[in-house]
Amino acid sequence: MTQHEQHPAVDLSVTIAGIHLKNPVMAASGTCGYGEELSAFLDINALGAIVTKGISLSPAAGNPPPRIVETPSGMLNAIGLQNVGVEEFVAHKLPFLRQFQTPVIVNCFGRTTGEYCALCQKLSAVEGIAGLEINISCPNVKEGGMCFGTDPSRAHQLIRDVRKATALPIIVKLSPNVTDIGLIARSVEEAGADAVSLTNTFTGMVIDVETCQPVLANITGGLSGPAIRPLSLRMVWETVQAVSVPVIGMGGIMDGADALQYLIAGARAVQVGTALFVRPDAPLRIVEDIATYLQKRGFRSVRDITGCLKFPGEQGQ
Ligand SMILES: Cc1cc2nc3c(=O)[nH]c(=O)nc-3n(C[C@H](O)[C@H](O)[C@H](O)COP(=O)(O)O)c2cc1C
Repeated sequence: MTQHEQHPAVDLSVTIAGIHLKNPVMAASGTCGYGEELSAFLDINALGAIVTKGISLSPAAGNPPPRIVETPSGMLNAIGLQNVGVEEFVAHKLPFLRQFQTPVIVNCFGRTTGEYCALCQKLSAVEGIAGLEINISCPNVKEGGMCFGTDPSRAHQLIRDVRKATALPIIVKLSPNVTDIGLIARSVEEAGADAVSLTNTFTGMVIDVETCQPVLANITGGLSGPAIRPLSLRMVWETVQAVSVPVIGMGGIMDGADALQYLIAGARAVQVGTALFVRPDAPLRIVEDIATYLQKRGFRSVRDITGCLKFPGEQGQ
């Protein structure tokens, strides 16, 4: 039974950057490939949207193994943005995703502003893409490897140029590895971002004490999963107050209550990543849980709880 048959009175739809989502739960970039493997476990049509693995102009092999290690309540990955490249994606991966009614959001990255812009321009000419999620967590090779996403003025310049390169909705995916997330969020909003999504992974490290070596060949990796949820949630809440464009929240969402925390903090939608490795059908259960929560409390729409955070001393519903 679908969510709508079970909860006919509850409207779960949201609109972000002009993209209409039947529910606010998306699959996060890098944790669902290009949808094919995931489709064996869950009906892609039941997702609010699907965000592809990060795509670059040329194919990338990623980092050498080991590139994943389990950590307390999470995982550390150093996949290194392995992907098939834009030509192969458009020719052989996108056609599969296009057969569903679910909006496809393409996660994009480059090593220079020129690469980002050329990629976004190419994708703009292709049918079946609802929007672009611009991952700004990449090092800018032209400027000595400094991350675009950790410097407000570099982030601003990048998104300003990407804005000129595409008419598609732009969602900027923010790195949490910064001191002031509101500053970065405002800088990309001013540059023309239609929405922001956060957080990407937190930089972390694991050492094998037997060998005295880092477990990951890349030495450091990105931490995701429940371990980061309170950190990501705090950053989402701060971002909601800093910008007026829609905010998409993610980081450690495993069930409906986790997703609801982000919505109550002000996120208009959420993404589910690491949970897919534990239960690939997690997004479906999360959609059900949100609908049940809304119905029990007499809300007619998920939009009624967006940002309904009460402060200590205020009456909760
Ligand atoms: C194995 C793996 C690969 C990822 N690849 C990408 C990627 O290509 N682009 C991107 O923007 N984020 C990528 N991410 C980050 C996730 O989309 C998400 O922001 C992060 O994992 C936090 O959410 P979670 O705790 O629900 O996993 C990746 C995460 C994991 C675990």
